[in-house]
Amino acid sequence: MGIEQANCMRRFIRMCDDGWVEGWHESNGGNLSYRLDEEDIRVVMPYLKVSGEGHDWVGIGRKEPDIANALFLVTAAGSPMRKVSIDPTLNCGIVEIDASGSAWRRVWGLRNARPTSEFLGHLLAHAALIRDADGDSRVVYHAHCQNVIALSLILNASEAEWNRALWGAMTEVVMLTPQGVGVLPWMLPGGRELAEQTALKIAKHAAVVWSQHGLIATGPDFDETFGLTHTIEKAASIYLKARAANGGRVPDHLVAPAQLREVCDAIGASFNEDLLQ
Ligand code: 13P
Ligand code: ZN
Repeated sequence: MGIEQANCMRRFIRMCDDGWVEGWHESNGGNLSYRLDEEDIRVVMPYLKVSGEGHDWVGIGRKEPDIANALFLVTAAGSPMRKVSIDPTLNCGIVEIDASGSAWRRVWGLRNARPTSEFLGHLLAHAALIRDADGDSRVVYHAHCQNVIALSLILNASEAEWNRALWGAMTEVVMLTPQGVGVLPWMLPGGRELAEQTALKIAKHAAVVWSQHGLIATGPDFDETFGLTHTIEKAASIYLKARAANGGRVPDHLVAPAQLREVCDAIGASFNEDLLQ
């Protein structure tokens, strides 16, 4: 068996392909990271290389003890999602975090490449998921979903506005995001501010809108994270269609607050009612 047959590799590559098929990854748009679990590490360990040229430690510019010693599978900076399945060793790779959580090194793949330009954001999001969320989430996915971006051109960067629109567009959304999506205004892609602000939001929301840019979604596995992204993107598309068909006005028959409450009661989810105020 080659490392490409490892379960985590196959699922990672499949998600890159699925996002490409959805049209969320023009050029090198979007990126993906996954924190390996014990079984993944056991399977990939024989293929990892930790010393020699290209395997030096690279500082991340801060200390994140929550991710100390973790291994991440991550897409390469500038790599098209479409090409991850075609040439995995060039377009993705595995990096190890040092024992203090302040540096990473390449241990597989990333041939002549570095991790995504949003790597700091991914690392801080993973640290927040371990520290502040349930600790079970291992996937961080950034996609340039066209309808989410289009909606950010007409809505303010307000969580109340966004969640009224997305929850109101179709019943399923509140089931997947009872805490609602987080929303950030435009910030420089790959920048420290975007990384830090995203991590703060990820502590409370499984997905965060990057206005005029895309979405970042997290979850325990690839399917749930992709499903969450797909659901938010679909709700954005339905809302935009309904609003356009309604002459640009807010649609008259969004799923109502009482109905949202009823859904959350039925599935026993704690619902972020504050966003309805
Ligand atoms: P990377 O190619 O560095 O992953 O950047 C793509 C992107 O979407 C930045 O926000
Ligand atoms: Zn992007």
